[in-house]
Amino acid sequence: MASGRFISVEGGEGAGKSTNIEGVRARLQAAGLRVVVTREPGGTPLAEEIRKLLLAPREEAVCDDTELLLVFAARMQHVERVIKPALARGDWVISDRFTDATIAYQGAGRRMGVDRVQALRTLLLGDFAPDLTLLLDLPVDRGMERLAGRGAPDRFEMEDREFFDRVRAAYLQLAASEPGRFRVIDAARPLPAVQAAVAQAVEAFLLQSAAP
Ligand code: TMP
Repeated sequence: MASGRFISVEGGEGAGKSTNIEGVRARLQAAGLRVVVTREPGGTPLAEEIRKLLLAPREEAVCDDTELLLVFAARMQHVERVIKPALARGDWVISDRFTDATIAYQGAGRRMGVDRVQALRTLLLGDFAPDLTLLLDLPVDRGMERLAGRGAPDRFEMEDREFFDRVRAAYLQLAASEPGRFRVIDAARPLPAVQAAVAQAVEAFLLQSAAP
């Protein structure tokens, strides 16, 4: 039996991931596919607890490697308990963020080094990666404006503009280095135009996946 496909959705803060993920889910289900929608950090009860630890603002400074290992601890639980079993059943998986987020946020945002994060990724995940990654790209100012109305910021949302500039640049660099996996969507346009671009990328991927 054919195994399912793995789609990740990435982007900076306020890029509209949640709304667009619902659109992708609807399109895949309309094509008769079974779909699991999940997120990182999180996706299992234990990984969701780790998410809370990571996102909560706290007085104690969080060491870079502590943050990096917590992100990967959550990810390994998620991959082994949710993503791989779903793919093995033939389900399609849509994850709100995956390893590219660690390269962008920890590797570039926190300046831990993209190569260092890539090395840990290879050690833990080998060549396991999404089949398709939709990157919702938005100028940092626009994302910050959208966040402003959303209540108390989490530990990442409290970072400064330069942090998010590095995150955005790293995502775009990843997309440029793996054009076969990434589709960059200009998320600064009005929502219907963004949704149309996402739908088009998903259609193309469905056709490609159906090809013998
Ligand atoms: P969000 O996806 O709901 O925006 O929140 C998750 C936050 O966690 C976001 O600020 C990005 C951050 N994050 C990392 O720093 N590294 C990671 O590997 C992942 C998956 C998320």
